[in-house]
Amino acid sequence: MTDHRVSRRRFLTDASLGTAGGVLAGTVSVSGATAGSLAILGGDPVRTRPFAAWPPVRADIEESLVATFRSGRWGRALQGPMQGSGQVAEFERRFAELIGAESCLSTGSCTQALHTALHAVGVGAGDEVLVPPCTFIASVQAILMCNALPVFADVDPGTFQMDPDKLEPLITEHTRAVEPVHIAGLPCQMEKIMSVARRRGLKVVEDAAQAPLAEFQGRKCGTFGDLGCFSFQSSKVIACGEGGALVGDDPELVERCYTFHNMGLSARDGSATIGTKYRMDEFDAALVMPQLATVGDQTQVRNDNAAYLAARLDEIPGIVPQRLHRGVTRGTYYLFGFRYLNEHFREASRAQFLRALRAEGIRFTTMYFDRLNQQAFIEHALSSPTFRKIYSSARLRRYREMNACPVNDRLSSEGVWLPQTALLGDRKDMDDIANALAKLHEHRDQLVKL
Ligand SMILES: Cc1ncc(COP(=O)(O)O)c(C=O)c1O
Repeated sequence: MTDHRVSRRRFLTDASLGTAGGVLAGTVSVSGATAGSLAILGGDPVRTRPFAAWPPVRADIEESLVATFRSGRWGRALQGPMQGSGQVAEFERRFAELIGAESCLSTGSCTQALHTALHAVGVGAGDEVLVPPCTFIASVQAILMCNALPVFADVDPGTFQMDPDKLEPLITEHTRAVEPVHIAGLPCQMEKIMSVARRRGLKVVEDAAQAPLAEFQGRKCGTFGDLGCFSFQSSKVIACGEGGALVGDDPELVERCYTFHNMGLSARDGSATIGTKYRMDEFDAALVMPQLATVGDQTQVRNDNAAYLAARLDEIPGIVPQRLHRGVTRGTYYLFGFRYLNEHFREASRAQFLRALRAEGIRFTTMYFDRLNQQAFIEHALSSPTFRKIYSSARLRRYREMNACPVNDRLSSEGVWLPQTALLGDRKDMDDIANALAKLHEHRDQLVKL
């Protein structure tokens, strides 16, 4: 079993680094699949079947939900993280065990978990937090909600993850924390990030919203930093309507998080401090609990399919799959991403390419926001009365000057992403995806006319 896992992991890393293309070269036979004209121009689409439905509507999850409803206990136990009975407390105990952390606190979302975690490690007005620009808006909003400045550390062009070498030059006397984001559920280079953070006395809050069960050097994402935050929003690999959790090895720190998320009321002595209400309810815990038994196998399926797909895509000119850092031992693959290099497609725009791909029955998307670091909401925050009270105009000017991420700018115009549900199928599904892309390349002359 162990040997199998190790060799699979090695295969995954190697495949995603592009060295396994030769191993699978024999499978890259696209001639039959690419015959005919593009579906958008009236040809037969490569695929007509949908991918797996999500969130998982399953009988065991329904039973769990109904049992909670009938129990009449709809709110969590209020004895502290992982304490007492009920679905939420039990979920916290089981999730901590699954992730390999000492302690866990559930929340109403990952955005809430991030806000809580940043607050608990001491991020506040006047501070700066290093965060990558290739992420969802929530990673940044959590920093702004602490009245702190998100300082964008550019990404690595191969892995699309926060580049650890970009951190050091951005650190100032105001830097309080680093917030690495395991984008797509693929681990950041946590060894280097932790080494910079520890050397410079910075706190680390991992945004592992997309990364339950992802591992770097055999250790789960979310357990490297002071706290790690997860999302169970309905598109995520463990899904309820809205839900989240944070994990950590310092029970005192997680207790502080509990107090903040419980309107500032301590579960230990009832004393009060500043806080808000971010509690998970029993229904969300009832929805996610049965999924803890299946998330491992599903993650395995996605990893195997992603390795196969990456190797096939390596054979198509102009399609460059997201790479894994050496040291990644498992991905979550909440997303499967690649760069679309249009010089290999007669300069057809990404929009033209995506339209044609959709017509073939494969729905890739762009990232949530192109150039997140340049989005207007950041400027809105900086020019708000609150921020103007905290930050001098000279400081904000310096901040704006520092806010440049050329690698992410390019990724923003080239990145293309597939949701995790497409990776839950079988080899035939992966072949459909690869064949559709190969077909577009073969018919690239037609793409520019769309
Ligand atoms: C990277 C990242 N961080 C944070 C979040 C926020 O999670 P939630 O929707 O649970 O608040 C998400 C959600 O998509 C995410 O993808």
